[in-house]
Amino acid sequence: QTPQTLYEAIGGEPTFRRIVSRFYQEVAADEVLRPIYPEEDLGPAEERLRLFLMQYWGGPQTYSEQRGHPRLRMRHAPFSIGPVERDAWLRCMRIAVDEEGIAEPYRQRLWDYLEMAAHSMMNSWV
Ligand code: HEM
Repeated sequence: QTPQTLYEAIGGEPTFRRIVSRFYQEVAADEVLRPIYPEEDLGPAEERLRLFLMQYWGGPQTYSEQRGHPRLRMRHAPFSIGPVERDAWLRCMRIAVDEEGIAEPYRQRLWDYLEMAAHSMMNSWV
């Protein structure tokens, strides 16, 4: 029986929970990224990213029930995201994804998307 979604194929919610938690552990220690996050508590941001990624990859649609249409570029407009911020975000995410040890071809599909998404979130070129 072939899994129907990447969400299911890589282990569902527990996998996304570990990846996003590991990602925010890196963000918390990153001197480029940490100051960009307006809240002292990164917990709510962690939950939003986890729910968004779960929804994007075919899991429960809880993100949109709670937050509405993602409109991610608009939601990132308040933050200056240039090449430095993009690269820092991808560095943190790369650690989280690599440590999860996801099987191919799922790891590559997930990573290609994250790279594309991080590029598309840029709104500054300095
Ligand atoms: C929210 C930074 C890329 C998904 C945020 C927030 C910041 C931020 C500061 C607000 C934190 C909060 O919700 O309290 C960045 C930076 C990026 C980046 C510097 C560098 C490229 C991405 C990418 C994705 C993403 C590539 C998706 C694949 C989200 C989501 C939220 C969010 C889902 C919460 C939106 C909401 O419902 O309000 N991001 N982000 N971000 N980001 Fe990013």
